[in-house]
Amino acid sequence: MKKSNKPVLLSGISPSGNLTIGNYIGALKNWVKMQKEYDCLFVLVDMHAITVRQEPQALRSRCLSFIAQYLACGIDPKKSTLFVQSHVKAHTELTWILGCYTYMGELNRMTQFKDKSKKHPTNINAGLYVYPVLMAADILLYQTDIVPIGDDQRQHLEITRDIAIRFNNLYGKAFKIPEPYFPKIGARIMSLLEPAHKMDKSDNNADNYIALLDEPPTIINKIRAAVTDSGTEIKMSEVKPGISNLIAIYSALSEKSLQEIEEAYIDKNYMTFKKNLGEMIVEKLRPIQDEYQRLMKNKDYIYKILKQGAQEATRRAEETLKRVYEKVGFILP
Ligand code: TYM
Repeated sequence: MKKSNKPVLLSGISPSGNLTIGNYIGALKNWVKMQKEYDCLFVLVDMHAITVRQEPQALRSRCLSFIAQYLACGIDPKKSTLFVQSHVKAHTELTWILGCYTYMGELNRMTQFKDKSKKHPTNINAGLYVYPVLMAADILLYQTDIVPIGDDQRQHLEITRDIAIRFNNLYGKAFKIPEPYFPKIGARIMSLLEPAHKMDKSDNNADNYIALLDEPPTIINKIRAAVTDSGTEIKMSEVKPGISNLIAIYSALSEKSLQEIEEAYIDKNYMTFKKNLGEMIVEKLRPIQDEYQRLMKNKDYIYKILKQGAQEATRRAEETLKRVYEKVGFILP
């Protein structure tokens, strides 16, 4: 049983599409770093993924692949609890309760719901609508202090806080009020070909993103083809979203400041910058890809970790759920 005085950190990724460098920079990379200071729970949110149609066999193998990628990026199961959402039943149970304390007006405002409804007009289902409530349950079940996320999840964190505050005000303290954590650089990595949109792991056009498992030549080609702006300067600027995005990627992955990069490329052209960036990404991803291949040959190890993670997460989640059941007035069995 893990007992720790460290603040609790929880974050999750939905197993849809392909994990991208956007997910890595916005979330995973920070998870790995924060493992030392925080009592971490990392969850693969498979129940969130089925709000969009999934092919069952593909979903199953993607779940395993995503977990292997978490591990390959440096999530250490000795330090952190790694688990799959559907393995811990308290997530759906708390979702129902929280749903009764969430207003439709609040859910109507969610931009992700609006975006996904537009993208899947024939499948605007109730699950998609209550998605933020499930996410609130993920977070609130573990008395979470901090949630490292990219900018696109800001609104979901706000509604989580609002639901928790509302519930606590009605019944006395049941939940910790979580704080978001956004990376300073790279909270919103943009698409390579359409830099006005975020890089999206479910994008139909794979040229819009670099997947963590992309082969080196693919990475080099995608960066070479990335949209840059008119002009020649390698400089961050609101009117140069393409090159600014590439500089941000460079900075986040190399840990060099934006200014350092601008200075290093002051008299160089886009082609040289893109060539170096492509090569740098290849080198950053190489150890992750090697470790991924090794892990995928040992699936029993992955299943063992998930089993331990589910047991630990269940134990912790049940404590909160019991408290919530008592507060709303259910007779406990
Ligand atoms: P998801 O699976 O879309 O993304 C996982 C994480 O990656 C971040 N991210 C990005 N960061 C920077 N630039 C980008 N282009 C980019 N694209 C994605 C996301 O912000 C996220 O941190 N609803 C969540 C999953 C979730 C969750 C949770 C997260 C469910 N329950 C509880 C935190 C806590 C989602 O769909 O993320």
